[in-house]
Amino acid sequence: MALRLSLVAVLLLLSAASTTTTTAVAAQALPRCSDKCGNLTIPYPFGMKKDCYLREEFFINCSHTTQSPVAYLMEGSLIVTNISLDDGELGILGSVAADCYNAQGNLTCSFPSSISLPLPYTISSSKSKFYAVGCDVRAIIQGFRGEEELVTGCISVCNSLDNVDKNSCSGAGCCQTNIPCGLKNTPVKVDSYKNNLRVRDFNPCSYAFIVEQGQINFSPASFKELKNTEKLPMVLNWAIGKDTNPCNEAQKRKDFICTANSRCVNPNRGSVGYLCRCLPGYEGNPYHPGGCQDIDECRASNPCQNGRCLNTPPPGKYSCSCHKGYKTDGMNDKLCIKDDSKRHSKIVLLHIVSFGMYTSILSA
Ligand SMILES: *[C@@H]1O[C@H](CO)[C@@H](O)[C@H](O)[C@H]1NC(C)=O
Ligand SMILES: *[C@@H]1O[C@H](CO)[C@@H](O)[C@H](O)[C@H]1NC(C)=O
Ligand SMILES: *[C@@H]1O[C@H](CO)[C@@H](O)[C@H](O)[C@H]1NC(C)=O
Ligand SMILES: *[C@@H]1O[C@H](CO)[C@@H](O)[C@H](O)[C@H]1NC(C)=O
Repeated sequence: MALRLSLVAVLLLLSAASTTTTTAVAAQALPRCSDKCGNLTIPYPFGMKKDCYLREEFFINCSHTTQSPVAYLMEGSLIVTNISLDDGELGILGSVAADCYNAQGNLTCSFPSSISLPLPYTISSSKSKFYAVGCDVRAIIQGFRGEEELVTGCISVCNSLDNVDKNSCSGAGCCQTNIPCGLKNTPVKVDSYKNNLRVRDFNPCSYAFIVEQGQINFSPASFKELKNTEKLPMVLNWAIGKDTNPCNEAQKRKDFICTANSRCVNPNRGSVGYLCRCLPGYEGNPYHPGGCQDIDECRASNPCQNGRCLNTPPPGKYSCSCHKGYKTDGMNDKLCIKDDSKRHSKIVLLHIVSFGMYTSILSA
């Protein structure tokens, strides 16, 4: 009887464990808030409706005026393509600045490009690069890091398409430079370096833009392609709050939001604010009240050989319950090996039972 009771208890425990593992799909948005704008996932602290985002700066304007919905950052016109919680990054589409001239050297059209970012957004200097394309181009990116003004840029001059770099952006027809970290409010300026009329025939336009690393492979064909390109992907950084020594200062505040089982991270990107990360062994959205959940190591695949995987505490760990007739290998806890001693005892048991039957038949 005692044995049967404990068996029931084990079964109850097992079924409780399996229900918690099936419901452990991490919530991305707050309750009663949508987390999709088209196929883009909008995780908290971002949100599309009042009370669905943490602060104004995390408002995403999901506009349905076009056939597929478009996500705009806050009340502006920057299009959001991707939100990453892990790295505090935001993929957006940046615009291409262009200046075009006619054969007489008159400026025929000019598309300026400027990006003005409110705190806590800055341009990701590790994921984005500044490019200028043209054969008589001087391009400058001018921005602010805090109160400090920073200017950088590059120049490219060439005399014919033949001299343009064939497969890389290395100075002839195309130049690139790194972006200082922590930049916001950056007008991109393009103009002519030499006023070289000779290049106008084959190179009527000069371009300058910020682009996500790896998203553009420069070749002579880029001159033509850029003519029809208004926007290119680039990466922004974001963080929570405006503290300059964020984790130290923010953790003392009432509005500190890193949830249970997560920790505060200083991003050290020349800007302000903190990020949250789930502790090792946990996964989920560390900004969401539902927070970081124990990773179910058994969900994706069964790491146990000849056994059942159990997502037991502590987080980040699991254990193996061996199938009948197997026992744990003392050396490798993922491996269950044939248990010969048990088979032996079963045989013994069988003998006892048959002996019992034999004696009962005899006594009958
Ligand atoms: C979202 O859909 C667009 C087309 O509608 C597609 O280009 C894009 O790759 C999709 N993004 C993701 C993350 O699936
Ligand atoms: C959202 O974007 C649309 C399209 O650009 C615009 O008309 C609308 O005013 C924006 N809404 C808000 C709240 O900014
Ligand atoms: C979204 O952003 C993350 C991190 O910034 C990146 O690794 C991932 O490739 C991006 N996804 C898309 C579809 O751009
Ligand atoms: C631009 O065109 C005007 C006539 O439309 C001309 O007077 C002027 O000299 C031109 N400028 C240059 C720099 O060639």
